[in-house]
Amino acid sequence: MDEVMEMPPGRKPDIDVRRAYEKKIAPLSLTERKDELLKQYEEYKKQGLKLDMSRGKPGSDQLDLSMDLFKYAKNLVSEDGIDCRNYGAMDGIIEAKRLFASLFNLSVDQIIVGGNSSLNLMYDLISKALLLGLNGFKQPWGKQGKLKFLCPSPGYDRHFAITEQFGFDLITIPMTSEGPDMDMVEELVSKDPSVKGMWSIPMYSNPTGITLSDRVVRRLAAMKTAADDFIIMWDNAYQFHHLYETQDTLLDLIEECRRAGHPHRAYMFSSTSKITFPGAGIAVVASSPENIAYLKKQIAIQTIGFDKINQMLHVRFLKDPENLKEHMKKQAGFLRPKFETVFNILEKNLGGKNIAYWHKPRGGYFISFNVMKGCARRVVELAKEAGVTLTPAGATFPYGNDPDDTNIRLAPSYPPIDELEKAIEILCVCVEIAALERLQ
Ligand SMILES: Cc1ncc(COP(=O)(O)O)c(C=O)c1O
Repeated sequence: MDEVMEMPPGRKPDIDVRRAYEKKIAPLSLTERKDELLKQYEEYKKQGLKLDMSRGKPGSDQLDLSMDLFKYAKNLVSEDGIDCRNYGAMDGIIEAKRLFASLFNLSVDQIIVGGNSSLNLMYDLISKALLLGLNGFKQPWGKQGKLKFLCPSPGYDRHFAITEQFGFDLITIPMTSEGPDMDMVEELVSKDPSVKGMWSIPMYSNPTGITLSDRVVRRLAAMKTAADDFIIMWDNAYQFHHLYETQDTLLDLIEECRRAGHPHRAYMFSSTSKITFPGAGIAVVASSPENIAYLKKQIAIQTIGFDKINQMLHVRFLKDPENLKEHMKKQAGFLRPKFETVFNILEKNLGGKNIAYWHKPRGGYFISFNVMKGCARRVVELAKEAGVTLTPAGATFPYGNDPDDTNIRLAPSYPPIDELEKAIEILCVCVEIAALERLQ
C-alpha cells in the first residue's frame, strides 16, 4: 500500500482550501503571493527550458545496466535442440517459459513468451476476442452488439485507447487505496452481460502506485458475472519494480480464479521492458492451461515464431528470480533518488498548503499527482509555456476526460536529477498559480 500525502483538494469546498492556504502563506495576501509567483514564473519562461516529464521511460544509466546481455550471443541453441536463429518454438523457447513460470509461480503450459511488447499482446488478445473468440466463448464478442469495458481510473492511457479503438463503451471505475471500487465493479458485471472485461494494473499501478489488496484480488476472482465470456486483462507490468526494501505483495489472480471456480477469467501480461530494454525486451501472456492451448492454435496462424534470439539472451542475462531481484535493486538505485527528489520538492513547496496531494508509491514508474478540482489542464498549460512537458491532463481517464480535472501523471524516471529538480520546482509554481486563479 502506498502512502497518501495530504487530503484530496478536489473533495473539499474551496472555502476550506482557501482558509488553509491563506494560513500557510501568511503574512502574504493571496494577491501578494500571486505576484511573487508570477515573477518567478516569468523568470523560468525566460530561460527557454525544454524539460520532459511525460513518459515513463528508463534513463540511459538504467539501460546501461543490461548491456551485458549482448555478451551471450553465441551457441544460440536451446536445451531441447532448437536453433534460436531459425524458425520454430512458436510459443517461446523452453528456457524462457521456465524463467517466467518461476517468476510468476506458474507452470510452463500456462505461458506463451512473445515478442518485444506486452501491450502488443494485449491488443492482439482483445482483437482475437472480438473477431475469433477465446477459449470458452460461445460467440466472438464482435457478434454480440455494443459492448462495455471497465477502466479503473486514473489508469493507463494506452489500455483505454485499445478498447476505445475497438468501439467499446469505456466505464470509469474510481480507484480506492486498495484498488478499483469493487462494489461498483460487482454491481456492473453482475447485471450487464455486455460488460466483457476489465483492465487492471495490479501492482504499483500506472499511475496511482497502488497495489491491489488481497481482498480486492479475491473479489475479482470470485465475483459473478452476467457475461460468461468476461475476462480480466491483468497487466502485471511492475511486479518486480520495487523502490525500497519494504515491498508491496500481490496475490496471484490466475490461482485465485482457479480456486473460485472461474479458471479461465484472467489473462496476465508482463514484459522485461522496464527490466532490460523498452521496445527490445521480451513479453509474456499467461492464463489457464486451456486458455493458453487455445491461444497457441490461433497464434500459430499469425506467426511462425517470435524472436527467440532475444529470448535466449534474456534468459542467459537474467538467469533466475534471485538474479533478477539483484538486477532490479540496481535499477531501483537509479530510480529511488529521482522519486525522492520529486517527493522532497513537492513537500517543500506544496506541503500543508492543501492545494495538491500525491502518492508515495513503493515501486513502479509513476507518481499520481492531484491538484485542485478544475485546475489540472491549467497547470499542464502553464508548465508547457514555461518549457516543462507533462502527460496531458485527462490522459489517465477514459476518452482523455478527467471529470474533476484534477489528476496529472508524473514520470520521474527519464530526466537527469538536475532537470527533474527544475521541472518539479516549476510545476509547483504552476500549481500555486492555477490554484490562486481559482481561489481569488
Ligand atoms: C502498465 C503498463 N503496461 C504496459 C506497458 C508497455 O509495456 P510493453 O513495453 O511490454 O509493451 C507500460 C509502459 O509504460 C505500462 O506502464
